[in-house]
Amino acid sequence: MSAIEISEDLPFKVLRKTWQPVAVASAVGAGQVRSYRLLGEEIVIARLPGGWLAALDACPHKGFRLSLGQVCDSELRCAYHGWRFDHEGRCTNIPSLLQPLPNKQEQARLTSFAVQERYGMIWVRLDPEELARIPEVPEFEKSGWTYLVAEPMAFEAGFRREIENYLDMTHFAFAHSTTLGVSADPKVPAMKITELADGFEMQAPFPALAAPKEQPGKLQQAHERRQRCWLPNFTTIRQSFADGDERVLVHIPSPNTVTQCTVFWALAISPGFKGPAPAEQLKFAHQVLDEDRRMCENQVPREVPVNPAKGGWGVLVTPGDNLANMFQRTFRKFLLQSMTPR
Ligand code: FES
Ligand SMILES: [Fe+2]
Repeated sequence: MSAIEISEDLPFKVLRKTWQPVAVASAVGAGQVRSYRLLGEEIVIARLPGGWLAALDACPHKGFRLSLGQVCDSELRCAYHGWRFDHEGRCTNIPSLLQPLPNKQEQARLTSFAVQERYGMIWVRLDPEELARIPEVPEFEKSGWTYLVAEPMAFEAGFRREIENYLDMTHFAFAHSTTLGVSADPKVPAMKITELADGFEMQAPFPALAAPKEQPGKLQQAHERRQRCWLPNFTTIRQSFADGDERVLVHIPSPNTVTQCTVFWALAISPGFKGPAPAEQLKFAHQVLDEDRRMCENQVPREVPVNPAKGGWGVLVTPGDNLANMFQRTFRKFLLQSMTPR
């Protein structure tokens, strides 16, 4: 364990250099404008004909919220005095001017951010420097697979609480007693955890679960489970069933503030999957996630400390906590590496 004390505000500084989801693409129609809080910054997202606009949610003129503006003629128009901006943040029109003043317009450029659409989500990077790319998950874009982007869920908890929860397998019998089963065994199978250059992965045979309210169906059957975490916060669970069917779930807890995150999540189902219909699978996963939300929102403190501490990580550890601890250890490494010039 590293003895270096890391400042608790370093994670947000570093995450500014990574891509974070800010919206489900299909939820922002043509000409629609949205606001989002990312890493403490209030941003506006607009789908303009020229491309996505992501910028600070404050008009350069008098600071009015641009997310309350409208899309007019392929530009975003501030609702206060009608200044207009294109998808690259350039000010294209100041209606009150008797004649155009190009230097005023140049000064009125928005503070805009890199933005891209991938996996049915809109991703934003606040800093120009790119520390890590959006991970490649071929199944999310493979023909024949069913890919579903769920409605994101807001958590009143820090993003690292959510990641720990997603990596935790000893809580099923208790936190998910109505969904994943009171008879789930809290003794976890031996996990093979491997550290990788950009994160880590875990592989383990996963025992069958018996849920009290549901027939033990396909989703509760024994399967091979692989969890892959790409730092800082993109984690997939791949379930491979004995009949060859597979599912890949992803969670990305996008940090709003230090103690709030929005969990973006999606599910890919292999062709011809023999089990519940995709909509049923999503509904079930949503119910499980809501149970997890309750756990994450009621931990003290609301975010896991970066430095090992009781009630956080690295102190009262059981074998079932190994995966969460691997995240905390490698996350620290990720932070420290980001400080060294590349
Ligand atoms: S505050 Fe936006 S145009 Fe004046
Ligand atoms: Fe859970």
